[in-house]
Amino acid sequence: MSETLDHAAVGQGLARRDGVKKVTGTAPYAYEHPVENPAFCHPVQATVSRGRITGFDDAAALALDGVLAVLNPGNAERLADTEDAELALLQDHEVAFRGQIIGAVVAESSEIARHGAELVAVTYDQAPHDVVLSDRRDDLYKPEVVNPAFPTDSDDGDVEKALAEAEYTIRQTYTTAMYHQNPLEPHTTTALSADGSLTLWDSTQGVHPVRRTVAAVLGMEPETVHVICPYLGGGFGSKGAPKAGTVLAAMAARAVPGRAVRLALTRQQMFDVAGYRTPTIQHVALAANRDGTLTGIAHDVVEQTAKIKEFAEQTAVSTRSMYAAPNRRTSHRLAALDVAVPSWMRAPGEAPGMFGTEVALDELAQQLGIDPIELRVINDPASDPDSGKPFSSRNLVACLREGAERFGWADRDPAPRSRQEGRWLVGSGVASSVYPVYRMPESTATVRFESGRYVAEIGSADLGTGTWTTLAQIAADALGTDIADVEVRIGDTRYPVASVAGGSSGMTTWGSAVVEAAREFRAKFGADPDDGDEIEASVQANPAAETYAMYAFGAQFVEARVNADTGEIRVPRMLGVFAAGKIVNPRLARSQFLGGMTMGLSMALHESSVMDPRFGHVVNHDLADYHITANADVGRMDITWLDEHDPHVNAVGSKGIGEIGIVGTAAAVSNAVHHATGVRVRELPITLDKVL
Ligand code: MOS
Repeated sequence: MSETLDHAAVGQGLARRDGVKKVTGTAPYAYEHPVENPAFCHPVQATVSRGRITGFDDAAALALDGVLAVLNPGNAERLADTEDAELALLQDHEVAFRGQIIGAVVAESSEIARHGAELVAVTYDQAPHDVVLSDRRDDLYKPEVVNPAFPTDSDDGDVEKALAEAEYTIRQTYTTAMYHQNPLEPHTTTALSADGSLTLWDSTQGVHPVRRTVAAVLGMEPETVHVICPYLGGGFGSKGAPKAGTVLAAMAARAVPGRAVRLALTRQQMFDVAGYRTPTIQHVALAANRDGTLTGIAHDVVEQTAKIKEFAEQTAVSTRSMYAAPNRRTSHRLAALDVAVPSWMRAPGEAPGMFGTEVALDELAQQLGIDPIELRVINDPASDPDSGKPFSSRNLVACLREGAERFGWADRDPAPRSRQEGRWLVGSGVASSVYPVYRMPESTATVRFESGRYVAEIGSADLGTGTWTTLAQIAADALGTDIADVEVRIGDTRYPVASVAGGSSGMTTWGSAVVEAAREFRAKFGADPDDGDEIEASVQANPAAETYAMYAFGAQFVEARVNADTGEIRVPRMLGVFAAGKIVNPRLARSQFLGGMTMGLSMALHESSVMDPRFGHVVNHDLADYHITANADVGRMDITWLDEHDPHVNAVGSKGIGEIGIVGTAAAVSNAVHHATGVRVRELPITLDKVL
């Protein structure tokens, strides 16, 4: 355990340092980074879901005025590393999913490139495709691990025996939809290949991970690949690892050396090659005594992956540590389909998984006639049921109690369909949130005294969450100086190696590296340094994780109104109470919680990627047909947090807040809809046809 920081700048609700640049449109994003005379690239995509390309006629495209090159599986460069089939573009003539990139047109303008791509005539030897997820498939398989490296299954005691012997049981199936991340800024890259080096202005959650991956794929030395991303218009996990667009832009740039090439996926293409959250089918079983004590918990999940590359979402993993019970089982089984590759999306695992668990608990509470908050309190474990380790801090019960007080839970009549105002049925629901505290290995920061001020450099990202500001707050406190005297430089591989902005680990990981470098700087140079004095320091994974189970917790409260005639569902009021360690910047933290809960509301009521089994693609692939919760869908949303001190997580005491806001939200909405109507919706999204 490292010595905890004295907080002065940390804890202040400072505005984003990059805020003015962003709202005035002067912050350069990847696609608009100024370059001389750029060319533009547009992908050619497969129009079948499986098969072999038998002809690729690019004559019409090449004849188009302004077309510079057409890449296809026959003429594209041979890649050095084709291990990752998602990134091994144009290396053979096989089609693995509809929308897969099978070519590209490079041209003088984006319009010409797009027109050229439409003129390419491709013929296929089409094969039957298999795109429908079901828990009755006989080819479901057990992956070796689930993301990022959890055991696939867990089994303690005998759940079936507990279920057979219990007086009170729930056995239900819960399903969550396929979701696409849809950051406002799509996947974009500006690439320049010149003099044996490659420069990528890439919209990414990690410049160093992009450098490492792209260098390997292209067979380049990592030092010759320069990746730059100072600003990001969101990622939600989709930009956590480089996707096909980044590699295609690099290949296009290498086809026209000396000329910068811009690539921006269209919104429709974002539904094809930018990752998505797998749909899940969750079998949840609970066994309980009359007093509400759980005797058994089972969470068995079926989900999908792509045939060409496995991604196994850790849907049931959070259930392992949430509640006490002597008999517990979790499992994950996959169907490998002819579909695009699923990936990280905000709280992968926890977000879909806690829907099943937290609705099942609500069903049990109703069966027992016990208040759903009390049921969670009764089963709150003293130590992590999965690992047996003590929690570094666990304030779920305090969040539930605080939330109950603020939300006015005591006034609630527990009977479903007990309150009606005009034609509106009114109900309220609760659910728990959880997110693990991750600290990624391998991040390094430099602290230097330069022109009379301190400079902290680290090759990390700012997803839009406020890293430019929060790292400066942390550096200022670690140096014991005013924040105005600290400049932070991030988003560029010229700065030291840093982990991906993922798993809500940024503050924990990069913050630890910055604290380490700042402390070593002070120890070496004292309080009155000379210009040019410099220290570099690295951090590894948190050693305290050996001893403690570390999680942030939260409680979500929702009021739902359902129109008795039309089934229209409205959520006028939500409350989130979180225990996430030290809050580095209350203003920016509030945005993270609000954003997470809004995305959770969206997951509950609106978002759903619809797979058309005939053609094997997502039919509602634009923001008109894939509705994301908008301002009109959000009512009053209150956010608060406990003043939590956890000395074990890191020197700052922060736990990570980017993802927990989405966890449990959809369950709280479903539970509130049930309380309003008496109808239990176990299938997301909750649409009006399901409550009528
Ligand atoms: Mo987050 S899904 O780990 O970017």
